[in-house]
Amino acid sequence: MRFLIAGNWKMNGSRPMLAELDRIAEAAAAYLTVEVAIAPPFTLLADAGPRAGKVLIGGQDCHPAAKGAHTGCISADMLVEMGARFVICGHSERRAEFGENDALIQAKATAAQAAGLVAIVCVGEDEPERNQGRAVTVVAAEIDRSVPLASTPENLVLSYEPAWAIGTGRTPTMAEICEMHAMIRAKLIQLLGEEGARVRILYGGSVNPANAAQILACPDVNGALIGGASLTADSFVPIVNAAADIVR
Ligand code: PGA
Repeated sequence: MRFLIAGNWKMNGSRPMLAELDRIAEAAAAYLTVEVAIAPPFTLLADAGPRAGKVLIGGQDCHPAAKGAHTGCISADMLVEMGARFVICGHSERRAEFGENDALIQAKATAAQAAGLVAIVCVGEDEPERNQGRAVTVVAAEIDRSVPLASTPENLVLSYEPAWAIGTGRTPTMAEICEMHAMIRAKLIQLLGEEGARVRILYGGSVNPANAAQILACPDVNGALIGGASLTADSFVPIVNAAADIVR
């Protein structure tokens, strides 16, 4: 299974920032065992595509409908037209800021897959849920309700992102990450059958060049979804290197 190191620029970046993408693309050209992806803001997609080289370009969100009266929204087909290969569905910031629930996220992921995109479906507990010892139960329930049942390893990536670890510099312990990823693997096999064993599971939340190697060494961690550290090639490329150094 190839590692996937995906950057999410969130609401950051204007055209000059594509110089970072140029440098990431230059580095990514050399990797055989690692797939590299960047989700810039929608406004940069058209310009990013032709400069991305082997880097997969994707969206940070899409609407479940193909078209229609949905002011401010973008459909999966529109992303495809801009050269997108994947879309992030149900990031915790969308769940928290825009009230997205599992059913909506499942509908978005289904629409994305129908359009030919890889859906990166995000799940993860918040801090009170972790403190109450409910993290595993919460994440299992989110997977049950947000993963489209017709998913395949080719069109689904699952990203475990504890909300309290995003942008905070805090991460779960390695034991907690490994435990959660093992549960997610079992859950995906339960839902999708044998194919669930080949779906890539990413970890996201304060991944940086200093902790990436350790996190990526967990057996069921197949890559990372990176926010802050994806904004510059200087911090992102070393994470890709860390993945490239791991032999499985
Ligand atoms: P972070 O964000 O790397 O800035 O913590 C992770 C994410 O939101 O995917």
